[in-house]
Amino acid sequence: MLTAFGKVILLGEHAVVYGRPALAVGLPGALVLESCISRPGPFRVRVFCAGIEESDGSDTSDTVLGEVLRLLKKRLGDGDGGCEILVRSTIRFGAGLGSSAALSVLLVRAIAAAKGIACADEEVRSRAHELEKHFHGNPSGIDDTVATYGGLCLFRRGGWDGVPGGLPGAQAVTPEALVLPGRPIPLVIGDTGVPRATRDVVAGVRRRWEDDRKGTEAIFDRIGKCVLRGARAISEGDVAGLAGAMRENQTVLAGLGVSIPEIDAMVRLALDAGAEAAKLTGAGGGGCVIALAPGKKDRVLDAWRAAGFHAWIP
Ligand code: PMV
Repeated sequence: MLTAFGKVILLGEHAVVYGRPALAVGLPGALVLESCISRPGPFRVRVFCAGIEESDGSDTSDTVLGEVLRLLKKRLGDGDGGCEILVRSTIRFGAGLGSSAALSVLLVRAIAAAKGIACADEEVRSRAHELEKHFHGNPSGIDDTVATYGGLCLFRRGGWDGVPGGLPGAQAVTPEALVLPGRPIPLVIGDTGVPRATRDVVAGVRRRWEDDRKGTEAIFDRIGKCVLRGARAISEGDVAGLAGAMRENQTVLAGLGVSIPEIDAMVRLALDAGAEAAKLTGAGGGGCVIALAPGKKDRVLDAWRAAGFHAWIP
């Protein structure tokens, strides 16, 4: 069965686009390939989430998905041959859980398999990164890396100069990605239900950076420090240390202008229910919130659900 990971960014979104580290964890089985039939005609993909059609596109569509399918046809197609692809998703699209990267990875894997092309993971990742540029504009690469490899990934655009101190057992899966030894992280995920496009939120941060480079770079530096502190805390099993890094990261992200009232409300509800930290995950501007809630996951889940938010334990 072919699948691709979704992801939650624990720490470091946005700053990762500007070369600071970020830490993310893969969500296994987020996207599952139902079928991929190689046949004459266009490349067409249909994605279903909870039985509802999430997207439907073909290489003749005048949409971003259409652009992506045209590129796939150029890269992996065999002349006039087409593909009919059916995907099942367990994550909502556009919610900050890495859906477009997961779809990119799954499409590459599915089409390569259907056309009999050998495609190792690193080639899958780099082809998916090329597709992500159409969805996102200027993706850092963290989403396509985690969508391909999963795990607990410390990522830095431009690569690492050795493994940072205090991270025993970290292993490089690509020059940019270190996978940390897995420890279960007591997370709850909740969805604000507010749609947004990653591309637009990332462009808003870009405008802010262009208006005030010095101030915005200082914000990114602070986020980068939170990430390394959080990664070290995870490797030492220090949940309180991770929580401190997440709380500070949320405060800084709110200052960057990517939080919204619904996110702030969900963060408050989670903390009131006993979570040690809660923050937006992904681009923000809507999308999902994560709570770190050792021993209190059910209480956070109940609090979010009682307030009308869709929430689950990954
Ligand atoms: O909202 P998502 O799942 O697309 O995540 C975006 C993460 C950013 O750091 C904001 C952008 C990026 O390319 O890393």
